[in-house]
Amino acid sequence: MTRQTLTIRRPDDWHLHLRDGAMLNGVLPYSAAHFARAIIMPNLVPPVVTGAQAAAYRDRILAALPDGAGFTPLMTLYLTEETDPDDVAAAHAAGIATAVKLYPAGATTNSASGVRDFDKVMPVLERMAEIGMPLCVHGEVVDSDIDIFDREKVFIDKVLHPIRKRVDDLRVVMEHVTTQDAVDYVRDHHKRLAATITTHHLIINRNAILAGGIRPHYYCLPVAKRESHRIALVDAATSGDWRFFLGTDSAPHADPAKLQDCGCAGIFSAPNTLSCLAEVFDAADRLDRLEAFTSLNGPAFYGLPPNEARVTLVKGDPVVYPARIETGEGPVTVFDPGFPLHWRVDGA
Ligand code: DOR
Ligand code: ZN
Repeated sequence: MTRQTLTIRRPDDWHLHLRDGAMLNGVLPYSAAHFARAIIMPNLVPPVVTGAQAAAYRDRILAALPDGAGFTPLMTLYLTEETDPDDVAAAHAAGIATAVKLYPAGATTNSASGVRDFDKVMPVLERMAEIGMPLCVHGEVVDSDIDIFDREKVFIDKVLHPIRKRVDDLRVVMEHVTTQDAVDYVRDHHKRLAATITTHHLIINRNAILAGGIRPHYYCLPVAKRESHRIALVDAATSGDWRFFLGTDSAPHADPAKLQDCGCAGIFSAPNTLSCLAEVFDAADRLDRLEAFTSLNGPAFYGLPPNEARVTLVKGDPVVYPARIETGEGPVTVFDPGFPLHWRVDGA
């Protein structure tokens, strides 16, 4: 096979779960190896709510970095009905918090302190709009009478659109979009609205979770949808459109927490994400748009310069990644894309 290479600006991950303690130590090196910056999710137990908590968490991440790693965590604050607009604004002004994360209460892992009554968070959202601080949104309703496969679409109509109308200037990132409906909504409402797309939602559809046996390692939230939605996501990601960028949502859980009667949601893709993405863009014949998705569109939305450093991806014989990594909290299974990965990150 002829050797093919692709050099792009060093990527950023605009949605990442690093956890804390032994799990943080175990997973951080994999993101730091390939990414320059990442938006760090605040759904710890207890959640990262205040500026002081975000500063302390940032320090723990920096302390856990391998020597010489050039990795900057961009912190988020977990929005609660008690969040103080002044604290949010101060954390933003001090460079401690880049964004605020909205979890509808009960939507996903550790979201119990999230928002039930959106009226209660309006003062925070209004202040964020004033200072230009983005809101990262987990876009799923939680009502038990709404089918889990419809929860993103219903959220757009019932929650997201009304909020964006009430706080017109708010900058919003719809996180980990999984549906054609979300892609269409973002494309049709281009004012101050963007979306992240995960690696795994570009690769799996709901058959991966359920057909031929139940596969807990493909279970995440929002849950993967039918194939037509996956195709819409690939189309958006590979389009070069500035509104779509990478947020891996790499979300490690130790295997025993996934493999039980009620297993946790989350897919750990940090080690092989770039190889997976290069494969997806190559298959779509859009390798020339990979850099926009991984390295240019995100910084542009967040008002940051793209990274100066470059990474080179090399195509060759399939790369084998470990099926799982060991952490101080137990083994964590690595996302299996289900096809061979021919692209590797040079030098990593
Ligand atoms: O699959 C998911 N895992 N989705 C989320 O929204 C949260 C995440 C986690 O924290 O494990
Ligand atoms: Zn997440």
